[in-house]
Amino acid sequence: MNSANVLKNFIVLEGLDGSGTTTQLKMISERFRNNGMKCFPTMEPTESSIGKLIRDALKKNISIDAKTMALLFASDRNEHLYGKEGIIRFIDHGYTAVSDRYLFSSIAYQSLSCGFEWVLGLNDFPLPEYLFFIDLSPEICQTRMKNRESRELFDEIEIQEKILINYKKGINYYADSGMKVFYLDGNEPPEMINEKIWNII
Ligand code: TYD
Repeated sequence: MNSANVLKNFIVLEGLDGSGTTTQLKMISERFRNNGMKCFPTMEPTESSIGKLIRDALKKNISIDAKTMALLFASDRNEHLYGKEGIIRFIDHGYTAVSDRYLFSSIAYQSLSCGFEWVLGLNDFPLPEYLFFIDLSPEICQTRMKNRESRELFDEIEIQEKILINYKKGINYYADSGMKVFYLDGNEPPEMINEKIWNII
């Protein structure tokens, strides 16, 4: 249980690597645009200098301690929310912000090395109005990931299985927060998933 604030007009997409969150981000933002509605599509890690440093570590170009990594993700998130060109500013200007990954990723991934409670404490950020979790087995995600060029830090299937468990534990933790959570079947075609998201929002 927790008492974090829920931020209206903020939508988050989460799921394992290869589950299709990036595809959904593109499809949702297009639908907003086609309907003449203001949308701020965004993602974590962000394009900021902190985000670039994180991506370098994910690609294993540099080696960073797990707790430093968790702190970097949280710093990136803080700027993503409160920075000059951040989520809050866009929402204040009438946009709906849609983010591919958010604090639930930190809870799922960084808890592996840093512990659930510690990561939770670090991520005392407002919750989205809607959280869509694209649910797909690590095995199928892995098959999809094989088509990608390079391997990243959390790619192994055993790790993805643990991440999936952490995701569900993390999302359950916020059960009484007022955030609306929807699990979507990642086996379905992207158009069908998108239709479901659109109908809900
Ligand atoms: P991903 O969306 O897969 O980026 P890309 O499509 O560019 O590869 O995210 C990058 C990785 O970062 C992914 O494995 C999840 C991980 N991650 C965390 O470990 N913690 C976090 O807080 C976030 C936002 C992402």
